[in-house]
Amino acid sequence: MTASKKPQAHYLKDYQAPVFSVEHIDLTFDLAPLKTQVSSLLTLKRLTAENDDLVLDGIDLTLLSVTVDGHAYTDFREADEQLIISNLPSQCRLGIVNEISPQTNTSLEGLYLSGGAYCTQCEAQGFRKITYYLDRPDVLASFDVTIIADTQFTHLLSNGNKLDEGKLDNGRHFAKWQDPFKKPSYLFALVAGDFDVLEDTFVTHSGRSIDLALFVDKGNLPKTPHAMTSLKKSMQWDEERFNLEYDLDIYMIVAVDFFNMGAMENKGLNIFNSKCVLANQETATDKDYHTIESIVGHEYFHNWTGNRVTCRDWFQLSLKEGLTVFRDQEFSSDLGSRALNRIDAVKVMRTHQFSEDAGPMAHPIRPEQVIEMNNFYTVTVYDKGAEVIRMMHTLLGEEKFQQGMTLYFERHDGQAVTCDDFVAAMSDASNIDLKQFKRWYSQAGTPRLVVKQDYNEELGVFTLNIEQLAPLNQPNNTELHIPFAIELLDPQGESITLGFQGKPVSHVLNVTSKQQCFSFDGLTAKPVAVLLEDFSAPCIVEKYNTETELLHIMQFARSDFSRWDAQQQLFISAVKEAISNPADNTLSVPIITALQNLLGKRDGDLALTAELLKLPSFDTLAAEFDVIPVDTIISITEQFERQIAEHLCNEFLDCYASLIDDGTVSASAVATRALKSICLHYLAKITDPAIANLLNNAAASSNMTNVLAALSAVVKADNPLSVELLEQFDSHWRHDVLVMDKWFALQAMQCGDDAIDKIKNLYEHPCFDFSNPNRVRALVGSFSHFNTAQFHRKDGLGYQLLGDLLIKLNAINPQNASRMLTPFMSWRRYDEQRSSAMKAQLQRLALLDDLSDDLFEKVDKALQ
Ligand code: ARG
Ligand code: ZN
Repeated sequence: MTASKKPQAHYLKDYQAPVFSVEHIDLTFDLAPLKTQVSSLLTLKRLTAENDDLVLDGIDLTLLSVTVDGHAYTDFREADEQLIISNLPSQCRLGIVNEISPQTNTSLEGLYLSGGAYCTQCEAQGFRKITYYLDRPDVLASFDVTIIADTQFTHLLSNGNKLDEGKLDNGRHFAKWQDPFKKPSYLFALVAGDFDVLEDTFVTHSGRSIDLALFVDKGNLPKTPHAMTSLKKSMQWDEERFNLEYDLDIYMIVAVDFFNMGAMENKGLNIFNSKCVLANQETATDKDYHTIESIVGHEYFHNWTGNRVTCRDWFQLSLKEGLTVFRDQEFSSDLGSRALNRIDAVKVMRTHQFSEDAGPMAHPIRPEQVIEMNNFYTVTVYDKGAEVIRMMHTLLGEEKFQQGMTLYFERHDGQAVTCDDFVAAMSDASNIDLKQFKRWYSQAGTPRLVVKQDYNEELGVFTLNIEQLAPLNQPNNTELHIPFAIELLDPQGESITLGFQGKPVSHVLNVTSKQQCFSFDGLTAKPVAVLLEDFSAPCIVEKYNTETELLHIMQFARSDFSRWDAQQQLFISAVKEAISNPADNTLSVPIITALQNLLGKRDGDLALTAELLKLPSFDTLAAEFDVIPVDTIISITEQFERQIAEHLCNEFLDCYASLIDDGTVSASAVATRALKSICLHYLAKITDPAIANLLNNAAASSNMTNVLAALSAVVKADNPLSVELLEQFDSHWRHDVLVMDKWFALQAMQCGDDAIDKIKNLYEHPCFDFSNPNRVRALVGSFSHFNTAQFHRKDGLGYQLLGDLLIKLNAINPQNASRMLTPFMSWRRYDEQRSSAMKAQLQRLALLDDLSDDLFEKVDKALQ
């Protein structure tokens, strides 16, 4: 790439208010696959005194005409991705007509055809691929939309309320929509297609009846009830927990097959990736059910946190995403298991987010510099953003946090605001000083905490000395305000009431300086400290507890999360010890015994038991090392798993046999299947006809969770059954691409050295399609993220496979290419041979003539 072509970065510090406001926009779409005509009429009002030009954004548009107040206008010029209009009066109606080609738009951004239906994706900057506009979130307009299309597209949808519809000549018809709420262009949506519809209603707590409609491809109606139920639960939960009621009279969700992300919160007309909507017991796993509920919730919750109050600029993305992820996490936790949800969220943080934060794409939750905005829909902005909201919730408590939310909406409803505005509302409503806390918004990297303990036996005083260290890659960071939650356990496992010199001490310690001591008195024996209870802050606590202490915590901590966390620590230490001392690679007796006890008592939360039986993932273990010892992590984990399977084979068999799955999606049935799945995972490692029988039976189940448990167990164990079971699955499910994604993912996990060739052959499979992000992620995403041994082959063929794919995707769908690139971002963390092979792939990309901005930004950062 030549220097002149180098894409430009945009900076938060350069923010300038818009020169014009758009009071209203009238949009007309005359839909046709290769030539869709878009006519827009903008009611403009100048906001600045000077006679500044109006600079509109536009990409890949063919301009047909410009008018001002109904007259042809010529005082404009087309520049690179801009239309610059000069000498406009202070108020006017600007008419623009342009053409676009939805059929050839494979970027899945703007207006495109997805499996025979027209649909849009405008966040962050896709609207400029539809028409020239002030495509920025702080320009809020009311929208009137007219859609004209062939009558075969039976449903013509846009935001808000339908005002009119009717027949036209030449087999065409139209619909007119009006959205009474002003919105930025990124929330615009249009859909035209032939769908089956599931309809329902929801009555709000003020008694308004809302029409709900779920649009899916013909024939998919039987897979819609779960999403509809999830929507109604979301609406009810937001009223109960946040006192927020829906505002329009209609709420629509459309499921499409080609979609870059999970879903999009367009006002009144959410567009979803079909995999985040469609489910029934035969085709979807329990995890799919959970994901659907949480994403339906997420998009619904955006109606207030995102739509009614939106972002001033895209650097503020976490304003809506961090907050909305926090809200969807709370929704899932209130409806299901809080501990399991917390475990899932923390896994995402400790693996993906920590590694992003330690790598070349590290950015604060409010980034300061962006080339391609689509690259910043990250685990940092979303998940760390949610952790930052959660910390405020911990500091304020539920009541004051809700008062903060109320104040936020009182102040900012209908506005486009900043993260500072949000924190100000929280702080003003609670009278809690969040000045230092705000550094979380501007500092990248994961803070490290070194904790030392001291027990004075004579005085009965226990002291924790907490030192805060800047992240390794961000040495200039200043001290953060960290809510550090703890529990102290006595030798009997009882929780100790915290106090010092007669005063109670909160279990949430306010760590604010570089070094701080916290003392607790009145003790009769040295306590065991549970640190960073519930992961109260997104930090790394450097190794602290001994094995004995961890076993104590596993048994007695009040937080289920912290018990699981202690268990993970135990495993991690065992793996690390085995790596440093390869002669001794057997799991210790206390660990095996702890697992045996877990399998023995089947009274508690079975889903939690299932989690406790899992070894830490490769990514979790990798995070412990500066240079990732790929081969040893794989071989030791493998050996440990076999040891567990062999030692506890009978226990797994007994446990499996005792678990009765009633086939429903009740919490207890889901938990039962989770535990059965982990039993199969271990049992598949043992060659035995009775076990083969169990696996075959599970694979023949009519419940997808059971089927997939069996298949993934045999594939991961390289069990000889896998060939036949995979073949059966293919012939059974070939008609259902979403189910086939599970099969592609299983194929990608195969252990043999021919894994790469198998994947290349699967590119030819009738269900595979490079232009569909779901397919690509299922096959190659699963390979690069989870088939560690084959992806990280020493001969570099795994990297080459991904490199080849990225070159192909760069031309088809840069956004998807950029997401798929992620495994290469941490190339520096591998041994010499591997890192240079990964680097070579990045260099290959850097040389591409048509390298997209999306890939450029990441490749450039990675190679710096
Ligand atoms: N706002 C959407 C959500 O969080 C995601 C949109 C992502 N857009 C993008 N260009 N990456 O649900
Ligand atoms: Zn979101």
